[in-house]
Amino acid sequence: MNKKAILLAGGAGTRLYPLTKIVCKQLLPVYDKPMICYPLATLMLGGLREVLIISTTKDLPMLEDYLGDGSRLGIQIEYAAQAKPEGIAQAFLIGADFLGDSGASLILGDNIFYGKLDFYREALALERGACIFGYQVRDPQRYGVVEFGPDGRAISLEEKPKQPKSHFAIPGLYVYDNRVVEYCRALEPSARGELEITDLNSVYLKQNELHVKLLSRGMAWLDTGTQTSLLEAGNYIATIEHRQGLKIACLEEVAFRTGCIDQSALERLVGALPKGEYRDYLKLVCDEGPTAYHPEPVA
Ligand code: G1P
Repeated sequence: MNKKAILLAGGAGTRLYPLTKIVCKQLLPVYDKPMICYPLATLMLGGLREVLIISTTKDLPMLEDYLGDGSRLGIQIEYAAQAKPEGIAQAFLIGADFLGDSGASLILGDNIFYGKLDFYREALALERGACIFGYQVRDPQRYGVVEFGPDGRAISLEEKPKQPKSHFAIPGLYVYDNRVVEYCRALEPSARGELEITDLNSVYLKQNELHVKLLSRGMAWLDTGTQTSLLEAGNYIATIEHRQGLKIACLEEVAFRTGCIDQSALERLVGALPKGEYRDYLKLVCDEGPTAYHPEPVA
């Protein structure tokens, strides 16, 4: 797999005002950790090790302060600014130099995935074309929506349609081959002045090079764009974590379980953490060692 990751943590978070007056949306808590941990853990569990985080000029310093260059987690993190909110697909123009001739996977900073991530690893292994996903939701008009023909193939994609043609929303997780930058350069801004991710995906669809995989019912895909969905996501994470005594998207644990850092590096990280529940949990992970029983999903 020759792919790099972009984590888009942009936007002014206006729908979450006043929570987002001071703190950037992607650093708001989802139960016991900042929101950005969840999409970053998804990328790491997919096997990606080079990540570009894109955010507003105002929010970048806070994100960088939290995650640094990624070396403590055994990955590489770079940062770039999206000066104006000119669309999700603009991430590939901002990230063109970072990507070089690699393919790309993009994840939105407010998307949470929980469950077996095989679907993602399979998508990342594709050599050519793009891959997006479909997930049944009650309120598809809030999202990009994919319509399927009688043979099960995707036939149309629409961004936030008033009358959705299906119940399948398109989650904010995408995989592209290395033509993505070239295709983005040719996109025209939409009526609202943005380079739309749905228009980019439609380019691949027209060329018969778009794979659409449905996520199974057992997967959880949550978004955190509104007060209610943020609370629901937090409650969901709390419920699973309390039941199992395992943390979801604990980045130090993910780094350890995916082999990005070894046990002695984890020990050093734990030693530097403030006393508290998070440190106690990681101490347990460390003491159990890498061979401890940990069924999929890892975190
Ligand atoms: C964006 C995309 C939309 C996608 C959604 C997933 O919408 O434009 O196609 O379904 O993310 O979270 P936004 O949430 O930025 O309005």
